[in-house]
Amino acid sequence: MPKVGGKNIDVLFSAETIAARNLELAKAIVARNFENLLVISILKGSFIFAADLIRAMHDAGAEPDVEFITVSSYGKGTESTEVRLLRDIDSDVHGRDVLLIDDILESGKTLKFTRELMLQRGARSVSIAVLLDKSVKRKTDIEADFKGFECPDYFVVGYGMDVGHSFRQLPYVGVVTE
Ligand code: IMP
Ligand code: MG
Repeated sequence: MPKVGGKNIDVLFSAETIAARNLELAKAIVARNFENLLVISILKGSFIFAADLIRAMHDAGAEPDVEFITVSSYGKGTESTEVRLLRDIDSDVHGRDVLLIDDILESGKTLKFTRELMLQRGARSVSIAVLLDKSVKRKTDIEADFKGFECPDYFVVGYGMDVGHSFRQLPYVGVVTE
């Protein structure tokens, strides 16, 4: 069991497992033949997944434009309360196919907010790709079009995901076990 910052990490999804799954997701995305595709990485948590998935999409033959949006979904604790737009994209989404990339779909509030924003702005379609789906925590009618793995109901870290800004650098997804 790896030890990081004095804490033991129980690895749930290894770097190799994630890389293999990313390639499958990329092929499934490319098979949809999106037109004038704009990929939007939802910061901060999705930055590593988005970087890897976008390169896997290139390998699978896609030529997407890439954008970033920052939304904050957490209130005080670790449950999503309200969603706020902290930094917007620069591109016009009107008439375009949009693919939102996020690290983890939990209540669905983050992705529902972001999807509705892009539809209001006239996106032709808005699809969702997430690495992890914690479906037992869902509180909205949002589902992912492309998902890496079903996630057990633990607070997970690594591969971009943090607890208190730590552990984002881990190349795998795990649970801090003390
Ligand atoms: P939702 O709005 O409840 O679906 O929450 C999704 C957002 O909360 C994701 O974009 C993550 O950044 C964050 N999040 C949810 N669960 C976890 C977790 O287990 N570890 C780290 N971040 C999480
Ligand atoms: Mg997030």
